[in-house]
Amino acid sequence: MSRSPAITTDHSRICTYPTGLDPHRMPSHVAVIMDGNGRWAKARGLPRIMGHRAGVEALKTTLRLCSEWGIRTLTVYAFSTENWSRPGDEVNFLMTLFERVLQRELDSLQSEQVRISFLGDLEPLPNRLKELIAEARELTASNTGIRFNVCTNYGGRRELVLAAQKLARRSARGELDPELIDENIFADELFTGSEVDPDLLIRTSGERRISNFLLWQLAYAEIHVTDVLWPDFDAAALIQALADYQTRCRRFGGIDPITSDRLGS
Ligand code: FPP
Repeated sequence: MSRSPAITTDHSRICTYPTGLDPHRMPSHVAVIMDGNGRWAKARGLPRIMGHRAGVEALKTTLRLCSEWGIRTLTVYAFSTENWSRPGDEVNFLMTLFERVLQRELDSLQSEQVRISFLGDLEPLPNRLKELIAEARELTASNTGIRFNVCTNYGGRRELVLAAQKLARRSARGELDPELIDENIFADELFTGSEVDPDLLIRTSGERRISNFLLWQLAYAEIHVTDVLWPDFDAAALIQALADYQTRCRRFGGIDPITSDRLGS
């Protein structure tokens, strides 16, 4: 399948768009690095875990609005391969939070026709969480609404290494000629599989890094960085990110036909 980031949106849905956004220039796939939960809590004299709890509300709002506005895929960075190095209490809290949220929200995900997947190396996760993930994925697999990817124990470099290992094994078994490995064959082995690449990456809390997130898939994504801390990320912040995206001229390494005329090239 083609890997070019799509710029079309599912207009078959009846969507109410906020003023100022062009419904024909919405990103198809939005990825989010949800950062700043700890700082949000600290600023309020609260334990860090309260920031994560508040972050879930911001995530629910973002998912609902993306779905309402016809965005086809939302991919969020919930737990990285590096996050295991956080204090044990915080890691345990996050795992329990994922379980609780999945349990609590499954009915509404289903009624909103959300198709949920967890991307990453899921093996080291607690058994109860793995069961809930499998249940949620199965239950929502044939839903027709927004695709919601939750990157959990996800690391971009790890994903690339695992893909290389899978291809090497197939070649060693004589099933795949190494000369035939191209970008599409490689991408099929990533956690994202046949998913189209993100058009827009949003990073909250002002950090200007991609932090091992979707290293392959973000090749041509437009990047929007906001100082807003994740728990404060609301409709206004999402509209600002989408409006910023709509100002971008996406050339995918080519040239802009309008300005190239003006420059005589
Ligand atoms: C980064 O902020 C945030 C995380 C590592 C966790 C994000 C998780 C959620 C918002 C919950 C999502 C829930 C589900 C079910 C998907 P940080 O702790 O690094 O903040 P800091 O940089 O201010 O310390």
